[in-house]
Formats: sequence, C-alpha cells, structure tokens
Amino acid sequence: MNSTQLKTTFRDIFEAQPEQAFFAPGRINLIGEHTDYNGGHVFPCAITYGTYAAARKRDDNLVRLYSVNFPDKEIIEFDLTQLEYDKQHHWANYPKGMIRYIKEAGYDIPQGFECVIEGNIPNGAGLSSSASIELLTGVLLDGLFNLGIDRLDMIKIGKRVENEFIGVNSGIMDQFAIGMGKKDAGILLDCQTLNFQYAPIKLEGYKILIMNTNKRRELADSKYNERRGECEQALSQLQQRLSIQALGQLTEAEFDENQNLITNETVRKRAKHAVYENVRTLKALEELKAGNLEAFGKLMNQSHISLRDDYEVTGVELDSLVEAAWKQPGVIGARMTGAGFGGCAIAIVENEQVESFIANVGAAYQNKIGYPADFYVASIGDGAKEIQLGEFE
Ligand code: GLA
Repeated sequence: MNSTQLKTTFRDIFEAQPEQAFFAPGRINLIGEHTDYNGGHVFPCAITYGTYAAARKRDDNLVRLYSVNFPDKEIIEFDLTQLEYDKQHHWANYPKGMIRYIKEAGYDIPQGFECVIEGNIPNGAGLSSSASIELLTGVLLDGLFNLGIDRLDMIKIGKRVENEFIGVNSGIMDQFAIGMGKKDAGILLDCQTLNFQYAPIKLEGYKILIMNTNKRRELADSKYNERRGECEQALSQLQQRLSIQALGQLTEAEFDENQNLITNETVRKRAKHAVYENVRTLKALEELKAGNLEAFGKLMNQSHISLRDDYEVTGVELDSLVEAAWKQPGVIGARMTGAGFGGCAIAIVENEQVESFIANVGAAYQNKIGYPADFYVASIGDGAKEIQLGEFE
C-alpha cells in the first residue's frame, strides 16, 4: 500500500482531500498466552503490519467510513447520535463502539468525519486486526478533534468495545500492545497492576517469522470464553484455602501444593497452564535481558507444549506448523501466538535458514493439512499514532 493510493481512494470515495492520516499496528505475543485475564504477565510487541486511515472532519453530524478491505460493504454511514451496535454495519461496529465509549468517557466530539481505512494484517489470523481498528479509531478521534485522550484510557476503552460492544470477553493484552508498542521492543505487562516495562529485542542474526495456518477461527470465541470460565472455577476452589485474587499470583510450588483443591482434572490442567505460563513469561524476560536467546527459545517451546496439552487451544494446524518448525536447523524456538484454535504461530529463525525453513515447514504443512500456510517476516514497530499523509509504505 502507499499513501498515493489511499489518498486517491479517499478522493474517489468522498470527492474531497483527506486532511490527516493515522496508523495502528497488529501484534504478536512472544510468550505469556492466556495469562492476561488470569492476572498474569504477557510479553507482546507491536508489528509493522497494521491498519492505516486517511480522514477529514465534516461540517455536519455524520460519520462515513469506507474500508478498502471490505469494498462490498461500500460506505457505512451513521450519525453521532446513532451509536448502537448494528449487525449490518459489520466491521464499522469497531469504530462505532470507540466513538460511543469515548463520548461516554466525557470527550466532546463536536462534528462528524469521514475516513478510508486499509489494513495489511492478514484477515482472521489472530494478529489483532480488531484491536488495531479500535486503537486506530482512538488516535484518529484524538488527532482530528484534539481530545487529549490519555493513552491508558484509550486502551481500556478499546477493551471495553471488545467486551461490551462486540461481546468477546478478551483480556487487555492486544489493546495494550497496540497502544503502547515501541520499535524493536517487547512489552512485559503485569495484567493485574498494569505496570509494564519495555525490553529491547535484539535478535542479531535472527528473524521472527509469523506462520499463518490459514485456518479460520470460527469456534474461537466460544472456546475462549469456556477457558475463561474454567480458570474462574479453578480460582474459586483455590480461594477456599488461599487468599489470592488471580491465578497469576501463584508460584509453581504454591500451585502444586494446593492443586488438589481443584476437583475437576481438566480444570486443574487449565489452571496449571495459567500459573506455569506466567512464571515462564517472567523467566523469559530474564533470559532475554541476559542475552540467552537459546534459553528464551526453550521457554517458547514449553509454552506451546503447555498450550497444546494442558490448555488445549492449539489444534492440528498450529501443532503441525510448530512441530515442523522445531525440526528445522537454526530455529531457536516456536510457538502459537494469540488465542489459538487456528490463527498464527511464530518462530525465531537464523537469517541464513529462513528460506529453507519456509520451504520445509510449508511443504510439511501442505502435506499434512492439505492447504498451504503463509509466512511473513515480522518487524517490531511503534504503537498507534498519527502519521504524515505521505508516510505510508
Ligand atoms: C486473545 C485475547 C487476549 C489474550 C489472548 C491469549 O488475543 O484478545 O486478550 O487473552 O487471546 O493470550
């Protein structure tokens, strides 16, 4: 995509010049999966794939939105007093929810606007294209109307849209990574306190590869909510003896000593993942800081095994990719990333091996699953922000 195309599309669609431009990235999670809603730690980063918008204010009350990714939906239009969820409005419910909750938070949006959006995050791949649109709308409203929205508030509003407006009971990781991302840094976030620190990701001689199963995640939301429920059940049984507010507060030893309080074996496995994965995430940060990339990679592998065997959110597609990745030369570590049940995995691969890695893992996947996977090299980029109209790539 380039800025000329987006500007041209804007002119074609709205017969006017855009005034400002914005970008919000997608995200990958390096380690710390299904820990955010358990009060644990996550370690995501923003990537340079993302969603772009060109926009201008209007003199009336109308909001008019067009996505290059969904041309058949044409222009979606509503006014600033009609901010209810509307199935017909499809993707535009994300920006609509943001407008609604930003207004509810007390910010004055005095007039409407129109915008063209285009994203290069692969669709439905679990790289958070929805949180990307949420934060894109946040920075867009902030920039067009000089609202001065606090970044953490914007992140929380994004999560609220996902939970209350769209109805997916997700945690705060995606919005946080996209709102706070920083070039060449991972974000170690404590999801209980929201304290966070940036950790430089210096992968001298290595690349992070994203491997897309191309499996659509239809079942994801119901299974996601089911896992949340299982973790809540485990927590309430552990609370009979322990005074904790979240599974993320437990050490491995504390969990082991008290796990017999959890009566159902499946629920016990879910809780074990949540506790051990949180500890692994903290260890991973230490290894990275110490420059022990090999040890970091091993923790990634253990994370995948735990998600496969204890949390059971991988599935044959993700397992095939990751298990093929583990066998390749020059691979430091590989694991699924995001919610699971399809979507993407990541691998850290030596520069010289990238080409043969893609050929070998691609062939093994196609052989087993019957359709191809896609591979992209991930670069770690900045969080959501206003950009110059000429700044698209
Ligand atoms: C999805 C959710 C996040 C997080 C991950 C799993 O991406 O949106 O909040 O729970 O799954 O780690």
